[in-house]
Amino acid sequence: STVLVFNGPNLGRLGTREPDVYGSGTLDDLRSVLQEDAPDWTIDLRQTDTEGELIGWLHEAADSGAPVILNAGAWTHYSYALHDAVSLVTKAGGTVLEVHLSNPHAREEFRHTSVITPVATGVIAGLGFESYRLALAYIRRNAR
Ligand code: DQA
Repeated sequence: STVLVFNGPNLGRLGTREPDVYGSGTLDDLRSVLQEDAPDWTIDLRQTDTEGELIGWLHEAADSGAPVILNAGAWTHYSYALHDAVSLVTKAGGTVLEVHLSNPHAREEFRHTSVITPVATGVIAGLGFESYRLALAYIRRNAR
């Protein structure tokens, strides 16, 4: 089976971007960790700084039914287009787990709102790479 792991803006800078907040691991490190957790799965991990590209990937997920782990970065807090794209996946019966490396609720006020959460299957935040690993464990047990 395949799991889609979508990462939004600035997450390509992981490793050097505010390591005190986001950790020192890179996206390549994350891919390795997830692949080790699920050797029998295809880990399709992607990152984009372009909102429309992420929306296209979610449409792809709606069509394929593949489960999604989504870290939408700052788009989480204000993108209604992303809200709608996640909604069309979950309303079609797909799984979208919202993840964050940091705990947005322990940070600036503008991070306390997620427009994704109301249409996501679930949320895991504040645990670094462990947020993704737990999401993957859930998907392995419960999703297609
Ligand atoms: C983030 C939290 C967001 O507020 C921030 O804009 C990010 C990363 C996280 O993984 O902790 O880019 O989604």
